[in-house]
Amino acid sequence: MKLPFKTLDDVDYEGKRVLIRVDINSSLDPETKVITNDSRIVAMTPTLRELSKSRVVLMAHQGRPGSDDFISLEQHTEILRKLGFNATFIDDIFGERAKMAIMTVEVGEILVLQNVRMFEGEMKNAPVEEVSQEAIVQELYPMFDIFVNDAFGAAHRSQASIVGFTQYLPSVAGRVMEKEIRELSKVTAKELHPWNLVLGGSKVRDKVKIIEQLMEIGRADNVLLGGLIGNLFLIANGTISKEYGTYVKDFEEVLAIAKKLLDSYPDVILLPEDAAVERNGERVECELDELNGDPFFDIGPRTAEKFANIIRGSRVSFANGPMGYFEKEDFTHGTITVLNAIAECDCITVVGGGHVSAMAERMGLLDKITHISTGGGATMKFLTGKQLVLVDALEEAAKRMDG
Ligand code: 3PG
Repeated sequence: MKLPFKTLDDVDYEGKRVLIRVDINSSLDPETKVITNDSRIVAMTPTLRELSKSRVVLMAHQGRPGSDDFISLEQHTEILRKLGFNATFIDDIFGERAKMAIMTVEVGEILVLQNVRMFEGEMKNAPVEEVSQEAIVQELYPMFDIFVNDAFGAAHRSQASIVGFTQYLPSVAGRVMEKEIRELSKVTAKELHPWNLVLGGSKVRDKVKIIEQLMEIGRADNVLLGGLIGNLFLIANGTISKEYGTYVKDFEEVLAIAKKLLDSYPDVILLPEDAAVERNGERVECELDELNGDPFFDIGPRTAEKFANIIRGSRVSFANGPMGYFEKEDFTHGTITVLNAIAECDCITVVGGGHVSAMAERMGLLDKITHISTGGGATMKFLTGKQLVLVDALEEAAKRMDG
């Protein structure tokens, strides 16, 4: 497959000062804030190894401002060190201290800058021409020879550190980015049906918009919902009360979209039919009219079995996000049942997003799934057939590099 952008094969990076943007946004233990899944860090190590004769400065984000997982990149740096890299962390992004450290990075060293989202301008999602004017880009780009972007997981975000540098520096994709585009292009090359989307977890706003887009192009035959997004749709059809949507951001706006989707596609969107709640510290399975205000932490066994049967009978299944609060052992049943069905089914399967991929890894299912994607939202965006903003930016950069 001919890629629309340049890769590490197209540039001479030996001895050069290379700025690399990666996506090592990782799941944390909600209480201790310790990284519980380092798979995104491990995934990009081939790119870092290839750059072992360069002076590498690494840029990444973790969480979003205001979220529980919005922390510094110190732990990520420690993991890189454990993986054998000569990595050092600096608590600065483009200030004087960062600049000094960048100037003195030696060949074989990796300087990890602070979480780029600690710079306010990074959270702006705007056209590439605009975000490239942000201070992070303007201050840093003159210090580098090459920009490598390996942040597939954030390839749908038009943010300064993702697309801004491509305007000024010779810019290429890293190996994660390259592999994801190749694999996802392969699995979407043929229009196969039934095509299932199995969605759970949070980031509900992004997910309802993706469902909308997938329905518009007629891709999804079944949308199986659990987790927080499942709750939202159960609120939308009046089955459960609004208190179960407390953690949904922009609640009223996404609720309106959910209602519209249920009206337009009543047979496609399939919701939990029973539940598992936490009652007196224990898992209790019940009907949806028996929730009694207790935390709805998992889909119930009947729903899990129904979803598993649909998955087994499909030609393509794509899963993103857990079916419940899977950090608690008692509430992993729904996610485990769905993942087992994905592994057993004789069809094309893609699992994306950190949580479910980590669970699939723990269950030893990796070689039974067609593609484990490092992306969550980016992978879903790819499935809608829309070109990712990062792919666009790297394509433009490639044209510039060819003169
Ligand atoms: C992800 O985890 O999907 C990526 O790191 C992007 O994160 P975001 O949704 O906070 O932009």
